[in-house]
Formats: sequence, C-alpha cells, structure tokens
Amino acid sequence: MANLCIAGLQWGDEGKGKIVDALAPDFDVIVRYQGGSNAGHTVIVNGEKFVLHLVPSGVFRSGKLCVIGNGVVVDPAQLIEEIDALAAKEVEIDGNVVLSDRAHIVFPYHKLLDSLKEAGENGIGTTGRGIGPCYTDKAARVGIRVGEMRDAERFAERIRANVEEKNRVLTALYGADPLSADAIVEEYLGYAERLRPLIGDTVALLARCRREEKAILFEGAQGALLDVEFGTYPYVTSSIASTCGVSGGTGVPPSAIGRVLGIMKAYCTRVGEGPFPTELTDDIGKLLSERGDEFGATTGRPRRCGWFDAVAVRHTAALCGADAVALTKLDVLTGIDPIRVAVGYRRGTETVKDFPADSRAVAESEAIYESFPGWKEDISACRSFEELPAAARSYVQTLEKLVGVRVETISVGGDRNATLCR
Ligand code: GDP
Ligand code: IMO
Ligand code: MG
Repeated sequence: MANLCIAGLQWGDEGKGKIVDALAPDFDVIVRYQGGSNAGHTVIVNGEKFVLHLVPSGVFRSGKLCVIGNGVVVDPAQLIEEIDALAAKEVEIDGNVVLSDRAHIVFPYHKLLDSLKEAGENGIGTTGRGIGPCYTDKAARVGIRVGEMRDAERFAERIRANVEEKNRVLTALYGADPLSADAIVEEYLGYAERLRPLIGDTVALLARCRREEKAILFEGAQGALLDVEFGTYPYVTSSIASTCGVSGGTGVPPSAIGRVLGIMKAYCTRVGEGPFPTELTDDIGKLLSERGDEFGATTGRPRRCGWFDAVAVRHTAALCGADAVALTKLDVLTGIDPIRVAVGYRRGTETVKDFPADSRAVAESEAIYESFPGWKEDISACRSFEELPAAARSYVQTLEKLVGVRVETISVGGDRNATLCR
C-alpha cells in the first residue's frame, strides 16, 4: 500500500476525521502535519462521537502508530485532556502516540494575544486557540519546541524569558494585565513531566518507517482555502494546510507523499470571517446548517453554509494534486431541489477564470450558477454507487467533471460505515 495524503479542499470541516478513520485500517502510520487544536476532527465509532483536536484520527484502529508531526503547534493541556478522554473510553493510546520534538508549544500568552488581536478591528474570527501567535513565534525564531521539555531547568528558563517579553507587549500594546511567569512555569513543568514519554524524533521515526515500507497516511487539518499561502489570505489559518505543507510538517520528502485524496463536502461551509461567494443566508442555508449539523467541532460556532463552489475546489484540487476525491455529506442534500453549483465567477463585467489570489477580488466575485435536479430518497443506507438515485449519481458525476478529479469515495453519514467506494 502506497502512502496517502488526505487534505480538505474547502474551508475545513469537510469530514477529514471520518475519512481518515475509515481508511486507517489500510495504513501503519497516521501523521498530522500542521495546525493545532483549532482543528476539530469528528469520528463516530459504534454510534459514539469523538472529536479530536491533536491526536490523529487513526487512533481508533488498533495497532496504528499515531504521529503528531513537527508542523503541528501543540497545546499540552489540550493534548493531555484528549489522551485522558480516549484512555477513559478504552481507546488504545499507550505507546502508539508520538509527539515530535520539533513541534512548537502553545502557551497561555499565545491564546491571550490571539483573543486580544481578535478583539481589535482586524479580527478574522479565529478559534482563539493561540495558533497565529504560536506560528508567529516559530517564524520569528523565539518559539519553544516540544523537545525543550526534556530539560526541565532550561525549559523553565526559556518560558520565563518569553513571558517577560510577552508581558511587555501585553501591557504596553494592549493594556492587559501581565501574566505570571511562575504560574506558567509550574503548569508547563507538570505537562512536560506528563508528555516526556511521548516525545520523539519523528523525522527519524518516519524515515525508519519508510525504510521498513510501512504505509503512511498524512492527515491534514483545516482546508486548502484556509492555507496561509494559497487560501483566502488574510482570512486563513497560519499554517500550510494544503498538501504543500506535508513535507515541511513531517520531514518526509515530497517524492514520498504518495497519492492525494482531496476531501470535499457536497456543499460548502466556512467558520469565521472571509469571502464566501456561494454563501446562502436564506432558508436553504438554514436547512443545510440544521441537516448538516453545521456547528464548529472546536468552538461550537455556527458554520456559514452555501452551495458547492467548483471554482474554488478546482483551484484547491489542482493545488493539492488530488488524484481522487472523497465527497462527504451527500445525504444532507436529500430533498433539496434544484441543487445549485457555482461553475464560474463574474466580477463586474469580467468573467473570472482562476480563483483570485486577492481575497477582496473573491469577495467581489459573484457566483455563476448552474442548477441540477435533486432527489427525495433517503440515501444514508446506500453502500454502493449503483444504489444511489439517478439524480444523486448525476450530481456526483457533475462535480467530478467540474472539479476535474474522480470521486472515488462517497460519504452518506457520519458513521465510519456510511461510506461507499466506486
Ligand atoms: P473535519 O474537521 O474535516 O474532520 O470535519 P468535522 O468533524 O469538523 O465536521 C464534519 C461533520 O460532519 C462531523 O460532525 C461529522 O460527524 C459529520 N459527517 C462527516 N461525514 C458525513 C456525511 O457523509 N454525512 C453526514 N450527515 N455527516 C457527516
Ligand atoms: P478542521 O481541521 C474550520 C478557521 C477559523 C478562522 C481561521 C483562522 O476541523 O477542518 P485560527 O484559529 O486557525 O487562527 O483561525 O481558520 N479555522 C477552521 N475552520 N475548520 C478548522 O479545522 C479550522 N481551523 C481554523 O474559524 O476563520
Ligand atoms: Mg473540523
């Protein structure tokens, strides 16, 4: 089995967690390559719902190695809570989760700076998990990495120095109260004690896995439209969420990434601010939100909903090099007739050919729609393409034509079994 990368082709929440869990039996190793606890990946196992933020979604399959790669930013409290919650549910977690020593640590000052910045006039609707400020520190070469937890004394010194500097920014720039370095040091030394057994050189580990011909599944967080390089900047997250981030986030060379499976919802959602040309603020939008249970898995915020945007997904499928796609939440469209799809954009009198780099141009773009017939039948029990009603099959074929990539997997429910392959 070759390696495979799973990446969201929209603005996140495409159902990556479900698809990773469904495919994990075919792989030995599952690796998260970017993002942090801004991610919320839902996996439903025997009717029980789990939301993962940092632990790879392959964890529910016995005997899999789950790697949190160097590209991830790790909130230790969140990770410990997640591991404890999984252990309490008797999910096999001991010894099979490895945390990269090169991953950066999220500190309370990152979360505070995130929320203070959001409260200003340039808020973009972040998840408030300290993601932007943590990646900022990484790029500024002042971040603290997981490997530094190995030496408690030095770790404490590094935290103190950073808190002192951040306090200057917090008080002078934002008029906020300073944070207590002592309290943070004490809290984080506790986390270090707890996480030390999980820390490893995941770059060397993954190289070894490759030499042993183990099959690796790369699990992206967010979606390519939230990619800091290629998404709707500045309304994006702070990491390379497309497949372009796999190498940098794991240390696995590009030539070893293998196939790419893009994940796309049968319609579109987005959380937070930013342009969304196919957004629906009418009753159909409300219907998608209710039927699709479109509330953020991390923050509980309502997700904005809209029609499938083929212009945007054509851009991300090409960018990610999608060899095939998995189409999720097709069941949510049941009963909606006609179903509309954006097949192009118009900006003033101009036809927009490529998804614009400038998010203002995206905001000013008007979607050009085509309508397709819907279906009424409940499709949630369908397990083969042939069982789907003709209109649903035709909708799938339309999307693959518009996006230019074959729909290989179709999801018709949240449960891992509600999946059909073609
Ligand atoms: P992720 O961030 O890409 O992993 O996606 P989320 O877990 O944040 O959001 C996807 C939501 O849709 C979760 O609540 C899933 O349980 C649910 N889901 C996934 N696939 C399907 C599907 O095919 N049909 C329905 N109805 N729900 C699905
Ligand atoms: P998963 O992995 C949907 C969005 C936030 C905000 C922007 C920046 O579950 O698909 P950040 O906290 O990252 O600085 O916020 O990105 N965002 C997500 N939206 N799904 C996610 O992850 C997201 N992670 C971040 O809503 O608009
Ligand atoms: Mg999510």
